[in-house]
Amino acid sequence: MIPGSMLPGSAFPDPTTSSGTATPADALLDVRGLRKVFSSQRLFSPKREVCAAEDVSFRLSRGEAIALVGESGSGKSTIARLLLRLEKPDRGQIRLGGEDVLAREPRRASLKYRGRVQMVFQDPFGSLNPVHSVGHHLIRPLQRHLGLIPHSSALRTRAGLWTRALELLGTVGLGPAEDYIRRYPHELSGGQRQRVAIARALAVAPDLLVADEPTSMLDVSIRMGVLNLLAELKREKGLSVILITHDLASARYLADRILVLYRGRLVEDGPSADVVASPAHPYTRALLASIADARVAGSTPAAGAKSAPKAAVSSAPSHQGCPFAARCTERMSICDHEDPAARPVGARMVRCHLYPAAALPAVAAAGVHA
Ligand SMILES: Nc1ncnc2c1ncn2[C@@H]1O[C@H](COP(=O)(O)OP(=O)(O)O)[C@@H](O)[C@H]1O
Ligand SMILES: [Mg+2]
Repeated sequence: MIPGSMLPGSAFPDPTTSSGTATPADALLDVRGLRKVFSSQRLFSPKREVCAAEDVSFRLSRGEAIALVGESGSGKSTIARLLLRLEKPDRGQIRLGGEDVLAREPRRASLKYRGRVQMVFQDPFGSLNPVHSVGHHLIRPLQRHLGLIPHSSALRTRAGLWTRALELLGTVGLGPAEDYIRRYPHELSGGQRQRVAIARALAVAPDLLVADEPTSMLDVSIRMGVLNLLAELKREKGLSVILITHDLASARYLADRILVLYRGRLVEDGPSADVVASPAHPYTRALLASIADARVAGSTPAAGAKSAPKAAVSSAPSHQGCPFAARCTERMSICDHEDPAARPVGARMVRCHLYPAAALPAVAAAGVHA
């Protein structure tokens, strides 16, 4: 462990110096201290505040894939919406390619920002317009972003746009492309629609693709194909990807790093293989234990990892100290009154009183090599 420094390969900022560190050259996205609180007021009931994101900090390098993992309601989609600038954070900073995007641009994402950060949504049936053909879905963003797309001179003619749309269909594995380009969404399967949604996102040549549960509404048999497509785009096109999922096995398969979210806070952030092989935070262990089928592409629950019972991932009573304390199998007295800070543990960040005071040897060892 190297306290007080940015560890090689690490995608998270050093919590000890998070306000002052410069963004490394290869960092595409640098998120610091994001907070988003929603308040809801219902008739005859007290005002309720939900902290959907609290002190969320992480970095993403160019060509890197990270997975944001957590149970339903943990704040995953809120973070995606903050990154897409569909919501405004109460606090925090988002830098894309070194540029402070919240300070310099209006609240609604500008066309330029949309060209750099694209999203694929969970529901492939809702995300395509039923009255437009596949070709229209791909040609429209090409026309809108014409001046911002690299090498766009070929796109100034109808034939050029058509050719590019066919190429995009080929890129997402819909071939022969001529068979798909004139179809309408109702003439496609769920998996094919999600591929069209991915092609549409790629049309503007984004730096970053945020995919919010892109496979959770698809048949199990075609999920792997979509995950493989994202993996291929990362590997062959150098696309940076944020995969949002509640499934640690998919996260392990696609992502270089896994970021675990619990009630709006990142509780663990580290290399995927290490997080899955030796989860450091008790909540990560509970999540791993709750995976019914963790056998996607060789991913197995951590050997020797202490597993919390399935029931541990259920209701979440509010708590003054560590938000996870009430459900934690390793709760100590300090957990009841002190909210743990994010601390580096090897190549990871962990937000838990178990570290560094009583770092698990397996975790400490796993962190050294990354
Ligand atoms: N627009 C909103 N208004 C009020 N509460 C919201 C809003 N969006 C999200 N929330 C709340 O924020 C929390 C996190 O939600 P979300 O980000 O959708 O979680 P996830 O994607 O992990 O399931 C939930 O408690 C949710 O009810
Ligand atoms: Mg969600």
